[in-house]
Amino acid sequence: MKLTVIGGGSTYTPELTDGFSRLRDVLPIDELWLVDPDDRRRELVVGVSRRMFARAGHPGRIRATADLVEGVADADVVLIQLRIGGQAARLGDETWPHEACCIGQETTGPGGLAKALRTVPVALEVAEAVRRHAKPGAWIVDFTNPVGIVTRALLEEGHRAIGLCNVAIGFQRRFARMLDADPTRVRLEHVGLNHLTWERGVLLDGADALPAMLRDRLPELADEVELPAPLLRNLAMVPSYYLRYYYAHDRVFEEQRHEQPRAEKVMEVEQELLRLYADPAVDSKPAILAERGGAFYSEAAVDLIASLQSDRGDVQVANLRNDGTLPFLPDDHVIEVSATIGAAGPVAVPVAPLPADVQGLIGHVAGYERLALDAARHTGSAARGRELVERALLAHPLVGQWDRAEKLADLLLANNRDHLAWA
Ligand code: G6P
Ligand code: MN
Repeated sequence: MKLTVIGGGSTYTPELTDGFSRLRDVLPIDELWLVDPDDRRRELVVGVSRRMFARAGHPGRIRATADLVEGVADADVVLIQLRIGGQAARLGDETWPHEACCIGQETTGPGGLAKALRTVPVALEVAEAVRRHAKPGAWIVDFTNPVGIVTRALLEEGHRAIGLCNVAIGFQRRFARMLDADPTRVRLEHVGLNHLTWERGVLLDGADALPAMLRDRLPELADEVELPAPLLRNLAMVPSYYLRYYYAHDRVFEEQRHEQPRAEKVMEVEQELLRLYADPAVDSKPAILAERGGAFYSEAAVDLIASLQSDRGDVQVANLRNDGTLPFLPDDHVIEVSATIGAAGPVAVPVAPLPADVQGLIGHVAGYERLALDAARHTGSAARGRELVERALLAHPLVGQWDRAEKLADLLLANNRDHLAWA
C-alpha cells in the first residue's frame, strides 16, 4: 500500500510514523510519501521518520517530495494535514477576534472562518490531483481543520473523502482508563459537528456506563473538559473541550486576554522538535511531541484507514455526510458521529433524538458552516466576497450582531489578504 501525507513536513508526522511502526500488522504500508513545500522541514521529518522505521524494523520505504503529483501518484490513501499560513496565520486567528470581544481560536468562531477561507481552496486542489493521479477509489482522509467544512467541500465535489479528528479517540481512551477496561471494549455514543460534540453514552461491552460515571466520577470528567461539574450533571452528557468556547465564552475570553496564545506555545514546541529531528541519534517519537494536541491521532488514522482498506466494519467516530442521521440538518451537511467503517465508506450509527438545546446549537453552527463554505468557495468580486464573509460571521452563534460581524470582517480581511485570491 502507498500512503501519502500532504503536509508531511508537519512536526506532527513522527506521531503518525510512530503509529505506523507500532501498528504495522493492522496497516501494512509499503511506501509512505511525505509531501511538503517546505524543504527544510520535509528533510528533517523524513530523516527522523526513516530512522524510526529502521529502529522498529519496519520494511516500508519513506519518500519525500515537494511535488504534489509525484506524491499522490498511484496512492491508495491520501491523508491531508496541511496548515496554510503556518502557525503565524494561526496566531492571527487566535488574537484579532479579541478586538471585537470574541474568543480567538483556530477552528471555532471568527478564527475558524479565516482558517476555512485559507484552507478550502488548497484542499480542493490537492483532491483534484488525487482524483487524476492516485489509484481509482483512493480514499482522502482529512485531518485538516476545520474538518467539518473541509470534508463537506471535498464531498460536494464528489471526492471519496472522510474527516478525522482525535477528540473522540481521546475520550474513548480516557474513559477506558477510568473504567479500567481495554479500549476495544469501549464504544462512544458521540454526536455533533467537528469540534462541537457531546458524548451521550459510553458503552462498555454494550452497556452504558456513562450514568454511573457521571454519578461517581463527576469531578474528574468535569476537569477533563474544563467545564463546571453541575453543567455536565445537568446535561447528562460530556461536552468536548471545544464546547468551552460556547458554555464559558466570556470566561475563556478573559483568560485569553492575559494568557500566551496557543500558537506561540506551539511555535516553541516546534523549534525544539525540529532541533531533535535534526539529531541523527533521535530515532523515536520525542516526549515533547505529547505537548501538542494530537494525542492518539496516529491510532485514529491507522484504525480508520485499516477499516476502509480491509472492510473491517467496526465502529469508529468519523466526519461523514448526514443523510438523515440528524433529521434537522440537510442531508449533505457533514456531521461527526459514531459510524460503521467498511470498504464502501462510513455508515452512521443511528442517533436518538437530541435535547432541544443541543439540537439548536448544532443547527445554528451548521448554518454558519454552510455560509462559511460558500465564502471559502467564492471566486468573484472582492465586494461580494466581503458580503459572504460578513454573512458567515453574523451566522456564528459567538458573533450574532451586525456591528460585530462588520468589525470582524475588517479584521479577518486585513489579516488574511495574502491568502485570499479575491480579496
Ligand atoms: C486537537 C484537535 C485538532 C487540533 C489540535 C491542536 O488534536 O482535535 O483538530 O489541530 O488539537 O493541537 P495543537 O498542539 O496544534 O494546539
Ligand atoms: Mn480536531
